[in-house]
Amino acid sequence: METLLGTDVARAAALLRAGELVAIPTETVYGLAGHGLREDSLQRIFAVKGRPLSNPLILHFASPEHLGGYVRPGAVPAAAHTLLAAFSPGPLTLLLSREPAVVPDTVTAGLPDVAVRIPAHPLVQQLLHQLDFPLAAPSANPFGYISPTLPEHVLRQLGGKIPYVLDGGPCEAGIESTVVGFGPAGEPVVYRPGAISLEALQQVVPTARLRTAAEKAQRVASPGLLPYHYSPHTPLQLFGPGLGAAPAFEAGSTGALTFREPLPGLPLEQQVVLSPGRGNLAEAAHGLYAALHHLDGLGLQHLLAERFPETGIGMALNERLEKAAARG
Ligand code: TXA
Ligand code: MG
Repeated sequence: METLLGTDVARAAALLRAGELVAIPTETVYGLAGHGLREDSLQRIFAVKGRPLSNPLILHFASPEHLGGYVRPGAVPAAAHTLLAAFSPGPLTLLLSREPAVVPDTVTAGLPDVAVRIPAHPLVQQLLHQLDFPLAAPSANPFGYISPTLPEHVLRQLGGKIPYVLDGGPCEAGIESTVVGFGPAGEPVVYRPGAISLEALQQVVPTARLRTAAEKAQRVASPGLLPYHYSPHTPLQLFGPGLGAAPAFEAGSTGALTFREPLPGLPLEQQVVLSPGRGNLAEAAHGLYAALHHLDGLGLQHLLAERFPETGIGMALNERLEKAAARG
């Protein structure tokens, strides 16, 4: 199959109505979108990604008003409304009790909650407004590999397997949405750290928290919870934060990903500095996956990556690095 790249929203909509898959730009990463209520499209998403059926998908909607009918109204905590008002459209995914007769089991992997998100990218907003069904969309990478933040990443990884990539340019945030469920008292609980930091959630709902160790141990049902994910093919080792903590390396065969400054003693063309001189976490997030794609393509033997400070979205960035390194 030939994969076309373009900005034709009507074409993307027609393909999706017909059950085909389309890669879509979002403000976080590119998604591999299909009709969220059609079993054949859902199965195709899992097949193209090589993703186990046990890993649930996010449903994407045009606005919070469109959630009606898909989630059980009586079971939406007050904090969910507060978060939606503050962060949608945007990089927030909420786990809400699904209407089982409407949301297919394949979307949620049989779980009682469905993950819902209102993406902000203008092209995907236009697209969703042309459709009368939600889009199921995981990140548009083969299962376990680095998520795409540029249309070229999608073409390289999924070219030939899908008919169309909707070209929305580089993704602004650069890391996935923050996945938030709700605890026993209706408090927001972060299941996957992401583009919205815990601190930002707490400014709106002060009781927002991370999962406890006991909660984390309960379930390994989703890919965000697997020890590896987002991985390059080249072995990756982490150090720091701080260049002083870098291990000894072989300059001829090593690449490095750093935060503010390059690693001394290593050729600059084998390095990516994510926020040179500035140390800005949002800038680092924007470039993180593209840097991993780039370094992974250099044909080196080892990659080193510097950890980020654990504040704000630094937590999400470190989580991605740990998972990328765990692949080995
Ligand atoms: O930014 C994003 O969220 C991107 C863009 C394309 O929207 N999508 C994305 O999808 O990252 P994916 O499939 O790569 O990751 C979805 C995450 C996984 O960690 C999955 O386990 C979790 O959401 N998830 C989905 N449905 C869930 C559910 N019902 N219960 C618990 N976790 C769920
Ligand atoms: Mg993913």
